[in-house]
Amino acid sequence: MRVEYSPGILWAGLYSVSRATRRWRLPEIDDPIQVVPFPTAEGLSRRPLIRPLPDTLGNLDGDGEKFLQRLETENNLMARWNRVHQLPYLFFRLQDRIRQLRNHGTISDWLDFAYGSPFPPGQIRAEISAFITLVARRKPQTVLEIGAGEGGTLMLLAMAAAPEATIISVDLPHGAFGGGYPLWKAIYFRQFAIPSQRMHLLRVNSHVPTTVQRVRGILADRMLDVLFIDGDHTYRGVKADWEMYGPLVAREGLVGFHDIVQHPPETGCEVHTFWRELKVRHAHVEIVADHEQAWGGIGVIETGGIGSD
Ligand SMILES: C[S@@+](CC[C@H](N)C(=O)[O-])C[C@H]1O[C@@H](n2cnc3c(N)ncnc32)[C@H](O)[C@@H]1O
Repeated sequence: MRVEYSPGILWAGLYSVSRATRRWRLPEIDDPIQVVPFPTAEGLSRRPLIRPLPDTLGNLDGDGEKFLQRLETENNLMARWNRVHQLPYLFFRLQDRIRQLRNHGTISDWLDFAYGSPFPPGQIRAEISAFITLVARRKPQTVLEIGAGEGGTLMLLAMAAAPEATIISVDLPHGAFGGGYPLWKAIYFRQFAIPSQRMHLLRVNSHVPTTVQRVRGILADRMLDVLFIDGDHTYRGVKADWEMYGPLVAREGLVGFHDIVQHPPETGCEVHTFWRELKVRHAHVEIVADHEQAWGGIGVIETGGIGSD
């Protein structure tokens, strides 16, 4: 039998197929597809080399605590390596980087650099940021820091100081509350100062009278514009630093005390006890990110301010 394909039959066929398949349409896509650009090589190299926690802890063999401890140690080692591998480069370029940051960077750039460098500040970032802002506004000509540790605050203080400032650091090798710094690090610490500044690194005990004599000798007839006390954190230690070096601070100079927040007793940090006694007699500000943080906090006194001794 021959079938005639008339246009009418063709249209009827197409119509019934289209009706039958109307229900088969693919579901609507709610969200447009997100296009995530692949990170550039530069972006990748900026990522910290910290291994993220695995999604699943299924391979712990029942000893989760040990696993997490190991992971933390590895992460600390990676962070340390991240810093240490910059040392050869910075040996030649540190002063250039410091000069660039001084001339073109914000305080936030200074902090980014310091925290990522082999000389990280032992500070809560928001707190040291506020303190360094106070210091930078004054452009001090003379600065003394007691307690350099890894050198981070010394670097920031030098950046905040005037271009022709004299910066003095007193730190006791193997001292309590940080352990001081090895002699080779002094090569780097010197470069925190630009050529027009003077950097004096005294690796001695702040509590011996000859150290005060040496500081006086460096200052000649000048007074200190900024004193930052972050050395011996015992009550007697911090009190001695205040009594010995406080008289060298200029009228309307700044004195910063680190670690004024109450610490757990086993840390041996008693700065908060001394600070409570001192602050009632001086115009002061407390820079504390969180009173529950159990460390840190910077107390700042303006000598010669209202109510000063
Ligand atoms: C907490 S660290 C300083 C941290 C540094 N200011 C920072 O924020 O990066 C304390 C330092 O004080 C030093 N120190 C302790 N007792 C001292 C003393 N009697 N004289 C001088 N330095 C002392 C320690 O050697 C240690 O390096």
